Amino acid sequence: MENVESSIQRATEFLKSQLSELPQTVVILGSGFAGWVKKLDVEKVIPYSSIPGFPITTIKGHDGNLIVARLASKLVLVMQGRFHFYEGHSLDVISIPLRVFAGLGVRSLIVTNAAGSINHSFKPGDLMLITDHINHSLRYPTFLNGMQSPGLTPYSLRMQGEARRIAEEEELKIHDGTYIFTTGPSYETPAEIKAMRILGADAVGMSTVPEILSAAHCGMEIVAVSMISNYGSGIKDGTLDHQEVMDTMKSIQDRVDRFLMKLTTSTLS
Ligand code: HPA
Repeated sequence: MENVESSIQRATEFLKSQLSELPQTVVILGSGFAGWVKKLDVEKVIPYSSIPGFPITTIKGHDGNLIVARLASKLVLVMQGRFHFYEGHSLDVISIPLRVFAGLGVRSLIVTNAAGSINHSFKPGDLMLITDHINHSLRYPTFLNGMQSPGLTPYSLRMQGEARRIAEEEELKIHDGTYIFTTGPSYETPAEIKAMRILGADAVGMSTVPEILSAAHCGMEIVAVSMISNYGSGIKDGTLDHQEVMDTMKSIQDRVDRFLMKLTTSTLS
């Protein structure tokens, strides 16, 4: 396999040649947030497959494009589609886009995702501002072991304040919560959801934490927001499926789009 450092270098050089100016902010779009792209002033769509050194997504329903958009007269990059451990990507590979963005001068990162609720008072359609996380992958050592020092958090307190203020403006329910990252690909059993609650988690998902660790390592200011898309297994009767995730999020799409637009604008100077 190609050396990760050389992938990063090739992707960075390619993107520099493609961009009219350097971007300040990157937004990673998770399931359900994807519709936001329609509201953007899109300058260019760069398929991941055309970026030398970039990984490619393999999931149905997740496009793989880097969108170059203009917002408040600044350039913003949007990841439409992301890379998951359960697709077979190593943590090193998942870190490539973030490290490329850092090389382009990106300073702020907004991460979104869909997550299952663990906390009984979190309902589908609520937002959860990630104020901390539990890396429950426990399967592979990360190059960032030991990064987290006592008292330090990768989650920007300033941007958390902005997110709370904007959610209130848009009448969106937003909870503070701890996100637990699992490698997937299977959803949890009811017993696992119960165990995760005892560990201190409020919502569960299969992305975000590898991205946060990479971006924090690069010194970015980070905010991460989950959309609660379903009850965690065993919290309510019924099975979990992808359609359930999609239907829930459609109903609040417009307000969520405005939330994301304002939050992104708040990072631009
Ligand atoms: N579990 C794991 N990942 C998820 C879930 C879930 O319930 N919902 C969305 N992503």
